[in-house]
Amino acid sequence: MDALTLLINRRSASRLVAPAPSGEVLENILRAAMRAPDHGTLQPWRFIIIENDGRDRFSTLLKKAAQDSGLEDKAQEKAQQAPFRAPMIITVVAHCDANPKVPRWEQVVSAGCAVMAMQMAAIAQGFNGIWRSGAWTENTQVREAFDCREHDAIVGFLYLGTPQLTPPTTIHPPETTPFVRYF
Ligand SMILES: Cc1cc2nc3c(=O)[nH]c(=O)nc-3n(C[C@H](O)[C@H](O)[C@H](O)COP(=O)(O)O)c2cc1C
Repeated sequence: MDALTLLINRRSASRLVAPAPSGEVLENILRAAMRAPDHGTLQPWRFIIIENDGRDRFSTLLKKAAQDSGLEDKAQEKAQQAPFRAPMIITVVAHCDANPKVPRWEQVVSAGCAVMAMQMAAIAQGFNGIWRSGAWTENTQVREAFDCREHDAIVGFLYLGTPQLTPPTTIHPPETTPFVRYF
């Protein structure tokens, strides 16, 4: 798939099964992330890969966080099951340091670009995934587990794997007019 076809047609896939990306494929995904636009070359991101036993640990963490947050049983169960929606999850943390030229928001955006770059690299290699966030990104226990410092942000959890279904195609051509004007 050429780059433009990928960019114009990209869709997320939420039903993901094994295998997860591994080896050179996973390395390419991480390399793509490292090439996200980055003002000041701060590399303001950290990637925490969750797979195999890591999913069990993440599940335990989310269950505990849900319990401690006082969520009802059904919500606790949902939290506990969340990590099993894909064979791999990459937690992306915006690792933000004070910088005189690069405000925090730019560093967070860079980390977000890294998420999209990873999804693109996954699709380009026959995998796919979905960028998820939700309340857990702000949860203290979850933040601690991923070594977030005060100004760091979890920008998302990139669920990755082999798409079980072909994602629906995009509407062609995408309607750009309402979103664009010339100045
Ligand atoms: C920062 C961010 C957080 C997101 N969080 C969620 C989420 O928690 N759950 C979800 O279903 N989709 C979430 N999405 C949207 C999906 O990643 C996806 O873009 C959406 O389902 C539309 O599908 P598409 O990418 O095929 O257009 C999030 C997207 C972004 C950019």
